[in-house]
Amino acid sequence: MTGPESEGSQVRRAVCPGSFDPITNGHLDIIARASRLYDEVYVAVMINKSKKGLFEVEERIELIREVTADYANVRVEAFHGLLVDFCKQRDIPAIVKGLRAVSDFDYELQMAQMNIGLTGVETLFVPTNPTYSFLSSSLVKEVAAWGGDVSHLVPPAVLEALNGRLRQG
Ligand code: PNS
Repeated sequence: MTGPESEGSQVRRAVCPGSFDPITNGHLDIIARASRLYDEVYVAVMINKSKKGLFEVEERIELIREVTADYANVRVEAFHGLLVDFCKQRDIPAIVKGLRAVSDFDYELQMAQMNIGLTGVETLFVPTNPTYSFLSSSLVKEVAAWGGDVSHLVPPAVLEALNGRLRQG
């Protein structure tokens, strides 16, 4: 079938990729906004065997599932290898990324250009909510490790997991 009817029946999919060690309110804001723009949103958690995180990938996935439970069209999966292969296997034509500041742009642009060159997958940049423009998982972990208050920067379930993990030492 061709024409508007067949185009209209296509499911619009996008992926929000990242390390999510752990997910922050900044990530969640981008995922929530992507979920309003697309029919299906995959949150793809990168498996990086050469870098041990604070949380195992399965723990990160559990936390993301918990805090995105209200978004019916969001699903969470791990991936390793190239993001474009994850996209190809699931027929995902678009990557959605948050841009916090101009400093993010150089590397993000390189990745976007590489990815479109590899398989034609597009990257859509969403301006981060200014409330979270300084926010990263690394900073959250550092501040929390030194006893700083990060309760306004991560969802309650993540705060609990973070405090539990840091208490373990
Ligand atoms: O949260 P992060 O660590 O900034 O996320 C980076 C991520 C996972 C989006 C990026 O490293 C990535 O896409 N990795 C998958 C491997 C890949 O496709 N590399 C080529 C990128 S052009």
